Order: sequence, then structure tokens, then C-alpha cells
Amino acid sequence: MLLILSVCLFGINTFAQNLQSPDGKLSLSFALNGDGEPTYELSFSGKPVVQKSRLGIELKELPSFTRGFTIVKADPSQMDETWAPVWGQEKQVRNHYRELAVTLQQASVNNRRMIIRFRLFDDGLGFRYEFPEQSDLKYFIVSDEKTEFNLTGDHKTFWIPGDYDTNEYDYSTTKLSEIDATKRRTNQEIAVRSPIAANAVQTPLMMKTSDGLYINIHEAALVDYPAMDLIVDRQTFGLSSHLVPDAVGNKAYLQAPAKTPWRTIVVSDKAADILASRLILNLNEPSKIRDVSWIKPQKFIGIWWEMHVGKSSWNYADAGNIKLAATDWASLKPNGKHGATTANTKRYIDFAAQHGFDGVLVEGWDVGWEDWFGKWKEEVFDFVTPYPDFNVTELQQYASAKGVKLIMHHETSGSATNYERRMDEAIRFMKQHGYDSVKTGYVGRIIPRGEHHDGQWMVNHYVRVADKMAQNRIMLDAHEPVHPTGLHRTYPNWLACESARGNEFNAWSVGNPPDHETILPFTRLMGGPMDYTPGIFQIKLDYYQPGKKEQVHTTLAKQLALYVTMYSPLQMAADLPENYERFMDAFQFIKDVPVDWDDTRILEAEPGDYVAIARKAKGKDEWYIGTITDEQPRTSNISLSYLAPKRWYVATLYTDAANAHWENNPMAYQIQKFLVNDHNTLKINLASGGGAAISLKPASAEDMKKWKQY
Ligand code: NOJ
Ligand code: CA
Repeated sequence: MLLILSVCLFGINTFAQNLQSPDGKLSLSFALNGDGEPTYELSFSGKPVVQKSRLGIELKELPSFTRGFTIVKADPSQMDETWAPVWGQEKQVRNHYRELAVTLQQASVNNRRMIIRFRLFDDGLGFRYEFPEQSDLKYFIVSDEKTEFNLTGDHKTFWIPGDYDTNEYDYSTTKLSEIDATKRRTNQEIAVRSPIAANAVQTPLMMKTSDGLYINIHEAALVDYPAMDLIVDRQTFGLSSHLVPDAVGNKAYLQAPAKTPWRTIVVSDKAADILASRLILNLNEPSKIRDVSWIKPQKFIGIWWEMHVGKSSWNYADAGNIKLAATDWASLKPNGKHGATTANTKRYIDFAAQHGFDGVLVEGWDVGWEDWFGKWKEEVFDFVTPYPDFNVTELQQYASAKGVKLIMHHETSGSATNYERRMDEAIRFMKQHGYDSVKTGYVGRIIPRGEHHDGQWMVNHYVRVADKMAQNRIMLDAHEPVHPTGLHRTYPNWLACESARGNEFNAWSVGNPPDHETILPFTRLMGGPMDYTPGIFQIKLDYYQPGKKEQVHTTLAKQLALYVTMYSPLQMAADLPENYERFMDAFQFIKDVPVDWDDTRILEAEPGDYVAIARKAKGKDEWYIGTITDEQPRTSNISLSYLAPKRWYVATLYTDAANAHWENNPMAYQIQKFLVNDHNTLKINLASGGGAAISLKPASAEDMKKWKQY
């Protein structure tokens, strides 16, 4: 018996544990090295993707979970299920993987145990560390995570600088060896930055090898743990985890049983498959919300862009140095530019009602905007006191009579403690006044002071807010939070996040270069929907003030395409109503495009170059297509093979005009209609910085007479 047991232990210790993906293309190998350090390797069709890389966790004032391990057991299992998201890019998601849970033990630390759980899907790998409750491990502090991703070469990489507080950078495309986060033109434009090092980058990190393999590294289910950045060894091409610290330099406070988020590596030889991957979603827990009937994908407009372009202001008065509790708001002298007035809000409500929008976001409605920015001030907003010129009761009645919902705005200015103290009252106020959606914001240095946007404390804050809003049947859109990691599966009321450089940067900075929106789907959007705020029609902003140099770095037609290429169940028509009124024919696409889908096809994709996606409307036989390019003009060949056979559709093509160009002639577009079927391939010319949007609806008898075949 003893002999058998020892052979068994010896056997399990010496040989690598192997796991194959269901289709056999990916293989994972786990082993302990001579020092008892856990290591893994990942290959795709026999080619290494991640070479032997170490795994481990360091603890404060306790022996580390990095070495001296033996394997106690390695449990294989598998899963093949489909589940229905509350909303999403398709109505069914397949969760198909093979799992290996390796239990490791440290003889020198009283047989302390840690589990590393691997899940290998056809489209990639997820793994996490788990800490079972045990006599020698109850409360512990993670001082560092030692996860390595040793890559095989000097891959082409789409990266933003590693940073504890912001993900609002634009992307650099360089080789791994050329990463230098200090040499960037746009660094100064972001309100709060805490860059880590010249060779630090953020996830989702997108890479392409010289032989055409696409690799995406990120994390899933980030809860009760800090976000992971990556340190790049620019000589060996090894990446290693770098966790965001807290105010005193620790990384995470855990209590056993505990687990880390999943580390994810999505791999394919086709770029389109990276965008089609649902691995991150599958690694998140199912919905915590039982009755989801109140959760609704939505399109909205807002008193928003007019502030970003400088036409109006969030603040009511130009007085600085405001004390929230001691100010008599009615006695302040209005600056005459306040955007969130009752009259202006009514104008937006009218427009929303007329054109079928669900909601109207109003920013700058609550007192405190006079000194909200950059003061590291704790008592900055109260979330319940409207400015004197914003009549919340009157507007509630006005909006509800027109079938429109007002969307609440809670800018916290980074003062999360203030928000947490006032949240119950803020929610009561929302319920009283008919609000069922809120946009939060975290512009500014975090309070508790010393904490970071991406540290464990704030990660828990964002989840607390999502959870509390869910309990109160409120939908959430968070700006400036940590990068999303698929938690919208668990909290489907958390419709979207910003967590990246949105369209707003085009209003007041050097902006987003023309390749920006071709990179975001491969990076930021891997973790979940983004509130990018597309739909800007008035591209050049000197329209508002002569001499204003800023502009959106796309054509008008590309702004339409973004409603399809940038997946979100929450989409803003971000421009001003009066601008849409100038281009009603193009605006029709924004009115038509759905925000929830039964099916999604990635038609063409290459990070940094182009993306074309077709999506089928929820519960309808209608398809919508977006195709975009970077600064290179391009011809996009859009196959319609997925349309129902033997059926004619009317295709409405919203394309760049022949002479369009994002810089010289961005607003030149054309609209054409044709009869099409599943045999057609549409040839669409995209301008430099351009794009096209297409709607496909079943043709009526009248349409069959009216329109020509393509
Ligand atoms: C930054 C957000 O991204 C933007 O949408 C908002 O208008 C401002 N903060 C003010 O809250
Ligand atoms: Ca922002």
C-alpha cells in the first residue's frame, strides 16, 4: 500500500500534466521544475504560444506560494453547455472546455495547499489560483503575483502604458522590444495618471506573431483583487504580472477560501476569432440577478457633447471655492452657459420622443460642479440637490408623459468614500424621480487618498455599486473604472463601462487617431461593452468656435459604423439634436440600429487596420453591418451569405462619398438602396479614416418594384 502510494506520488510529481482543448488544437502542459516551482506551457497546432513560464503568489510576512511544491492531485473534468445571456452579441453562448485542477502542497510550510485551475477552450486558456481554507492560511496579504507569460518572439503589439489610475491612453503599435511608455505624445492630456514604468503595459494586450498567430492576454472576473498590468522584458519577450498596489503598497487582502481572477490567453490564427471569442464571458459567474425583466438595452441622447465642445457648462456659476453644505445656490450668479436647465432638458426630451430614443442623460444637474475638478476634495457632490434652474419634478412629469426616461449622472470626482456614504440617499432620490439608469464617473484622484482606480479597494467599490444598483433595479454605466473583465455576465444591469479613451477625447485633446476604433475591439472590448459615445456628425469643431483645432478623426459614415463595430447594449447618439436635424437621412441609421442581437458574424478583421461585423437584430430578420478602416482607404467586401436563403432584402448603404477623407472632407457621405440576397457580396469603398453602415430589412412587394438589384 505504502509502496503504491509513493509510486503514485512520485509518478504524479515527475510527469507533466497535459490538457488538450476540445478540438485538440491547443495544448497545455503543467509541471513543477526542480525547485518545485509551478510552470506551464501553451501551444497552438504544435507551435509554442507561451514557453515554459512560472506561476506563483508572494505573501507578506508569510512564506510564499512560489516554490517547494509537490503535486497532490490533478483533477481533470470537462464542460459543454450553452447559456442565454440577458443581452448580448448572440442569443446563445457555448461554454466548452477541458479543465485541470492541480492541487499543490508545500511540505516545508506545514503541507500548506494551493490549487491552480486551468480551463482550456478551443479559443484559449484561462487559469487562476485558489486558496482553500486550512489551518495555516486564513487571513493573508498578497504582496506580489508571479505569473509569467514567456512569449516566443518580438511580436507586434497593440499597447497602452501600464498605469494604476487610467486606461484613457491611445494605442501604440510596436514590437515588444520597442515598448517605451515614456515616449508618447498624448500622455499629458489625461486628468490623473500613475504610470508604472517604461516597459509596463495594460491588458487586454493584443499581439500578432511574425507567422500570423493572434494572442490576447487579459483577465476575467476581477473581483476582490487588484487589476493586473504586465511588465515586458524587452530582450527576452517575457511578460510578468504586476498588480496595482493599495495606499500602503500591499496588493490584495484575502481571506481563505479565496481565489484570484482568471488570467486569460485567447489564441487564434484568425483575427476574427479573437473578436468572436466568448472565453472571458464564460469564465465569469452566471447572473446574480434572478428577475432580469427590468434590464433593458437602450439608446440615449444627452446634455453632454455640448459641454465637451465648450458650448455650455456643467457648472451653474463660475464661483470657485464652494462648500457643499454652506452654499446658498440660489444666490449665486449664474454664468449664463449652464447646460442642464429645465428648458434645455425639455428640448432633448422632445427630440428623444420624436425619434424613438429610450433615455436622456443630463450631466451638470446637481450642485458641486463649480470646483469639482482636480481638488482631491472629499465632499464634492451630494447627488440629490439640483441646481436652481433644473426642476426635477417638472422634468420627471414631462419625460414620463413623452415615454422617455431621464438618465441619472453621478460624477464622483474620484471621491468614492463620499459616494458610498451618500449612495442610499442618491438611490432613494432616483427612485422617487423615476430614474432607472445611472452613469457614474471617477475623474480625479481617488479618495480614500492613496488608493488607485485599479486597486483592490476600488475594484470592490465598482462591484458594490453594481450590486447595490441591481438590488434597486437600476442599470449602470461606469466611466473611468478599472478595465472590464466580463462581469456584465454576473451583473447584467451593468450595461457598459468607459474604461478607455472614448470619443470625448476628440473634443478637447489631440484626439483618437484613425486606427483607434480598429484596435479597441481587440483590446478594451475583450472585457465587455464600451460606452464609446459614437455618432458625432459635426466632425470639425471650429463650427462651434472659429479657430478651434480639434476634430473627430473619422468620417461621418464611420461614426455610423461604430454602432455595429463597437458592441454595447447601451449606445449614445452623442451629437447635438440640432446637428442631427441637419443630416436626417444619415441619422436614420442611428434611429434604426438595434442595441441587442441574436447573432454576430465577424466578416473581416485585422487589429489596427480594419473591422467589419454583421449582426442580426434581436427577434427580427434584420441585419446591420459596420465596416471601418484606419487611415488607409480600403475596399471592404461584405458577404451576405448569412441572410435567410431565397429572400430579398432592402439594403441601405451609408457610405463615404468618393471624395471623403477623415481630415480633408469628413462629412461627405452617400446613401443608396438596393435589393440584395444571400448570394451578394457588397463592394464598399472606405475613405481614409472612413467606414460604412448598412441596414438590411426584408423587402416588401412595394420595395421589389421600387429598388434595383445590387
Ligand atoms: C468624463 C466622462 O468620460 C464624461 O463622459 C463626462 O462627461 C465627464 N467626465 C464629466 O463627468
Ligand atoms: Ca472619461
